[in-house]
Amino acid sequence: MKPTQKSFLKETIKHIDIKKHNVVPLVEDMANMAYTSRDLNRAAVIYDKMLKDKNCCIFVCIAGSLVSAGLKKMIVDMIQNKMVDAIVSNGANMIDQDLFEALGYKHYKGTPHNADDNLLRDLHIDRIYDTYINEDELKECDETIRVIAESLEPRPYSSREFLWEIGKWLEKNKKGKDSILYNAYKYGVPVFVPAFSDCSAGFGLVAHQTEHPQHHVSIDSAKDFLELTKIKINAKESGLMMFAGGVPKNFVQDTVVAAEILGANSPMHKYAVQITVADVRDGALSGSTLKEASSWGKVSTSLEQMVYSEVTVAAPLIIGYGYHKKGWKTRKFSNYAKFLQDDDKKNLTAKGKKCRCN
Ligand SMILES: NC(=O)c1ccc[n+]([C@@H]2O[C@H](COP(=O)([O-])OP(=O)(O)OC[C@H]3O[C@@H](n4cnc5c(N)ncnc54)[C@H](O)[C@@H]3O)[C@@H](O)[C@H]2O)c1
Repeated sequence: MKPTQKSFLKETIKHIDIKKHNVVPLVEDMANMAYTSRDLNRAAVIYDKMLKDKNCCIFVCIAGSLVSAGLKKMIVDMIQNKMVDAIVSNGANMIDQDLFEALGYKHYKGTPHNADDNLLRDLHIDRIYDTYINEDELKECDETIRVIAESLEPRPYSSREFLWEIGKWLEKNKKGKDSILYNAYKYGVPVFVPAFSDCSAGFGLVAHQTEHPQHHVSIDSAKDFLELTKIKINAKESGLMMFAGGVPKNFVQDTVVAAEILGANSPMHKYAVQITVADVRDGALSGSTLKEASSWGKVSTSLEQMVYSEVTVAAPLIIGYGYHKKGWKTRKFSNYAKFLQDDDKKNLTAKGKKCRCN
């Protein structure tokens, strides 16, 4: 019988529930082992310190394809339990994967071993290593971005503002209660995607701008950087939890330098953890060590840890350790989304314009 799309898209990816597994004894025992286990233990202890430091603003950076891989609920649990104050991500995780699932679609278990990619192409199935996606459904993401852009006042937006509008749209349309974008909107956690058009969002915005060549929505990545830097300046102390690497890693590290340029006395990031498989030999950003970042004045050297591991293995252990050690219980919701909206209002009023924020 000829294979059909349905015959490939059967078993869905399920998101790991860090609340269900108390990993504390396991991670504690890793302290007495060697190699990556001991590094992982140290990273978990550093994250726990971030959570217990009342003055620390926690930035979480997300690259790679982690939402499609089953880490969505972990990020949502971090949002709901005050374990993250701001998120910086690539577009793939937030739009192609999180918004995609918020629209009601799923990621499916596939195989990297004997996949016939030509057949998958014919059946409109996209593959991420061992995961399959229905390409026809993915087009809904592009279209949703276009529809949201059409509904907004034409002007430049930071990606944070646009992503907040997506959260609002999800609430209005009663979709994606378990999504990162909806929960970030609900709990006031700003989400930044510095390379916003480099994902499904780009297709939607290209269609929108073509329909409205003169007056359209555009994304202002300098505004993103300024907003992120304002959070850093306001927070003073900060910690980084970085999954994978890529643009989000550099963007958030650079806020220390930007703060200096703005004349603010903002210290280096006090805590930093990165989980990655990138290595250091190519001199590129993703594999560069956090000690190296300290030579640029971005990260303090005392409480940093690289963990060389694939993220889906190490993150549930490190974040699960933080969750079950309960350091988050004494933290407050920082609501940096409101802080930035208030700042926007202040700037517009100062210019004598009518405020359009709500
Ligand atoms: N990832 C996708 O499938 C996808 C899909 C559409 C668009 N894009 C776009 O491509 C651009 C680049 O993607 P990127 O930001 O993910 O950068 P990237 O692919 O270069 O990944 C950054 C670094 O993280 C490491 N890494 C990635 N996944 C990892 C994992 N699971 N465990 C450990 N290390 C891991 C990589 O080895 C790399 O060194 C982004 O703008 C993104 O939106 C990506």
